[in-house]
Amino acid sequence: MQLLHLDSSVLGAASVSRQLSAEIVARHQTLHPGIRVVVRDLAADPALHLSSAHMAAFHGAPTDDATITADLLKGNAYMDELVASDILVIGAPMYNLSIPTPLKAWIDRIAVAGTTFRYTATGPEGLLKNKKAFIASARGGVYSAGSPAAALEHQESYLIGLLAFLGVVDVTVVRAEGLATGPQAKDAAISRAFADIAAISA
Ligand SMILES: Cc1cc2nc3c(=O)[nH]c(=O)nc-3n(C[C@H](O)[C@H](O)[C@H](O)COP(=O)(O)O)c2cc1C
Repeated sequence: MQLLHLDSSVLGAASVSRQLSAEIVARHQTLHPGIRVVVRDLAADPALHLSSAHMAAFHGAPTDDATITADLLKGNAYMDELVASDILVIGAPMYNLSIPTPLKAWIDRIAVAGTTFRYTATGPEGLLKNKKAFIASARGGVYSAGSPAAALEHQESYLIGLLAFLGVVDVTVVRAEGLATGPQAKDAAISRAFADIAAISA
């Protein structure tokens, strides 16, 4: 069994999503002793934004650009790690109502027609079957269903939609929100998220 642990916060040791994702991984190590964990710190080592050079290479054009070549290899490794993993743990802070750009850059490498999804006569079909995903969500404000800002929520909803598009429909969100609304609210939100993680079962 393999778990892929992604982090994307730029806040380092102060990051809440990193705290939550690490705890989710630790929970799975307790539930599945010996589970292999592959870690990608997307903030520390991001893929490049897709460029015309990438697109040319995807269509078979040779490249002698060492930067692009190394970045293409990184994208291939992203895909291999994802396909080989049974469990995904995605550290996903909300930045400007959506996800951090290094996480989007990761998605741009793993959402590939013919590999992780395909187009059929009846519409797109996700090809990543039998995987579970956990989203470690952290955000300064409150965007849960029913809150005044709910319509601005393009972080969890985007990830859930994207994962479903790829065939990953077993998705659990562990959320700490309202982190910027005061120290007590922040502590309470993190405590609730840790309780949710402790309740994760195999
Ligand atoms: C660049 C940036 C943009 C942010 N944008 C939002 C936002 O749109 N909405 C929000 O509620 N919080 C926003 N925040 C606050 C973060 O969501 C909050 O600090 C959260 O803890 C981030 O997760 P992290 O601690 O894992 O980095 C932003 C923070 C940063 C650094």
